[in-house]
Amino acid sequence: EMSAEERAFQERIDRGEKIEPTDWMPEGYRKTLIRQIGQHAHSEIVGQLPEGNWITRAPTLERKAILLAKVQDEAGHGLYLYCAAETLGVSRDELIELLHAGKMKYSSIFNYPTLTWADIGAVGWLVDGAAIMNQVPLQRTSYGPYSRAMIRICKEESFHQRQGFDIMMKMAGGSEAQKRMAQDALDRFWYPSLMMFGPSDKDSVHSAQSMAWKIKINTNDELRQKFVDQTVPQAEYLGLTVPDPDLKWNEDKGGYDFSEPDWNEFFEVLKGNGPCNEERLGARVKAWEDGAWVREGLMAHADKRSVAKVA
Ligand code: 3HC
Repeated sequence: EMSAEERAFQERIDRGEKIEPTDWMPEGYRKTLIRQIGQHAHSEIVGQLPEGNWITRAPTLERKAILLAKVQDEAGHGLYLYCAAETLGVSRDELIELLHAGKMKYSSIFNYPTLTWADIGAVGWLVDGAAIMNQVPLQRTSYGPYSRAMIRICKEESFHQRQGFDIMMKMAGGSEAQKRMAQDALDRFWYPSLMMFGPSDKDSVHSAQSMAWKIKINTNDELRQKFVDQTVPQAEYLGLTVPDPDLKWNEDKGGYDFSEPDWNEFFEVLKGNGPCNEERLGARVKAWEDGAWVREGLMAHADKRSVAKVA
């Protein structure tokens, strides 16, 4: 049974009002936002690793500069989102500690390796494509700081997807070897990209409440379907084949019928048993430890400065 405060809060949400950090909010709303925004931020930061792996090996200086700009953008997206989470009373250090302790997640997709240059094209085209599909509706989320972070992030994401699709166009239209490499990248990234939208709606533990609070605007399956409907024609344009023999246009529903990802694989990856889980978390913990002296130096300097001001 809702309390008067909870009922008034839900009416604000239903009227489409933005909730701001100093407004009253149910504890569950705050906790859900910390979980989702924190894991979204972690995804941006860990997501830099698969692409960073190719900055030193990009085929041209131009591709290197583009990839460098994109990876830098992801770092900035992580910072916007950690800032949004801080408005809920949780510090960045706490969130990062929970990630390193395996108590918070990042997007499953980043536990897959980037084995060839075509993978960098597939990541931009499919992974950022899926991220855009998921983030565009989140611009209308009820929590003000999260909504504003999403608006800013979405402005940069379209460049991320376009540069990836451009790599795929070059390779799919290139030599036989390049086209095979592009097809191989699509084969390996197709199903993990579908997993980015989360489990099927019937297995989604948070969707109902998150949608009531407008923390989630569409269901997982709705966005996955939209992603497939948008991406299949792009694959056809590239002359590549989506690795799903059961994919076919369904006139009645006005969308494609397609095979679901292997949900056992999905839950295994979430448990930490994906191809790169240890490597990714290890890289993050190492970066955190290697950078400790910089943070300590900055804090000592800031303390000295603040004492000087008082004196
Ligand atoms: N990877 C890891 N964990 C996932 C997941 C995925 N692809 N999909 C779902 N999960 C987790 C959920 O976090 C939840 O676990 P938790 O309770 O420990 O948090 C559990 O699986 C059940 O899933 P639900 O559908 O019930 O959970 P949500 O309602 O939170 O929905 C979500 C999952 C759709 C990912 C939602 O949290 C969301 O929209 N998050 C914000 C967007 C986001 O994080 N995107 C990451 C994409 S990568 C990215 O943005 C970087 C880009 O620049 C490339």
